[in-house]
Amino acid sequence: MSETLVSARGLVKRFRTRGGWLGRSGPDLKAVDGVDLDVRAGETLGLVGESGSGKSTLGRLLIRLIEPDAGNVRFEDQELTALPAGELRRMRRHFQIIFQDPYGSLNPRMRVGSIIAEPLTIHRIGADRKARREKVLELLDQVGLEASAVDKYPHEFSGGQRQRIGIARAIACGPRFVVADEPVSALDPPVQAQILNLLMDLQDSLGLAYLFIAHDLRLVEHLCDRVAVMYQGRIVEQAPTAELFREPKHPYTRALLDSTPSIRPGEPTPPAVEGDPPSPTAPPPGCRFHPRCPVAVDLCSEKQPGLLPEEATHRVACHVAHETNSRVRA
Ligand SMILES: Nc1ncnc2c1ncn2[C@@H]1O[C@H](COP(=O)(O)OP(=O)(O)OP(=O)(O)O)[C@@H](O)[C@H]1O
Ligand SMILES: [Mg+2]
Repeated sequence: MSETLVSARGLVKRFRTRGGWLGRSGPDLKAVDGVDLDVRAGETLGLVGESGSGKSTLGRLLIRLIEPDAGNVRFEDQELTALPAGELRRMRRHFQIIFQDPYGSLNPRMRVGSIIAEPLTIHRIGADRKARREKVLELLDQVGLEASAVDKYPHEFSGGQRQRIGIARAIACGPRFVVADEPVSALDPPVQAQILNLLMDLQDSLGLAYLFIAHDLRLVEHLCDRVAVMYQGRIVEQAPTAELFREPKHPYTRALLDSTPSIRPGEPTPPAVEGDPPSPTAPPPGCRFHPRCPVAVDLCSEKQPGLLPEEATHRVACHVAHETNSRVRA
């Protein structure tokens, strides 16, 4: 088993909501509510869950793009959450993010060469301008773009090409960990496949670890070594990909898998997970999934289940699954 690269413990992130009386802020919303997560060197860890479950917030916390309200994140042996701003800036070359929207994430007034060179300048990589330009050309080649791209502006490129520019910028400083936040969901299917292939090739050649945030479970099944399932700010199940898809143990994971559209064209798409998600500012007591859960028992509305190991590598936060597992073992 490879070494742990990123390790989060007890992460909590609250946001102030609006809608209070006379424009005052409303109740707090816990977007991430007590998450422990490890990412291993060189792996792809998938992060799935409904919209609003806290995936992007968790991804941003892991690379300290936003500050947690509680908990900590370690990158190798550095405690990121304790680093002063200057040191954090220096550490940033080791972890990067690729955003969903290649249109919104590139500065429209900068030439592509400058966009990709920016992190090199910040991290003082390359002796001079000439060396940095060479490095930019090398990066363009690595992501499958022509050298002539350096002098063009983002609007001159297609969505897929813009995502390639974003990827070139993300890998410019040789990161070890990349948060890929729905990196292909804004692209057409054939372009999606090209970008995913590029990401996988780069992982092989650069030894990157990815946190791969996705809605599309078929992509996750195909690409990820392990998967974590998020529901309302918490991880409810985590397992090696094949195991999770073969034997999902959390009722929410099962509902997610059942609602995944068939790969075969023409077949109807089953309904999404039934029932509405609970209000994020007033989550139900106990297990947050219990109001929608087909197998909930009394305990589920009383006590929050912990994320416990079922087997060595398969963890689930579900009282019913824990009970079944302990009966099987007895
Ligand atoms: N900056 C913010 N201010 C206030 N609330 C926020 C902020 N960012 C996120 N939230 C809220 O936190 C919760 C989690 O949001 P997040 O974007 O992490 O979810 P997500 O799982 O990435 O969703 P999606 O699949 O739609 O991208 C949501 O209820 C969202 O409205
Ligand atoms: Mg998101």
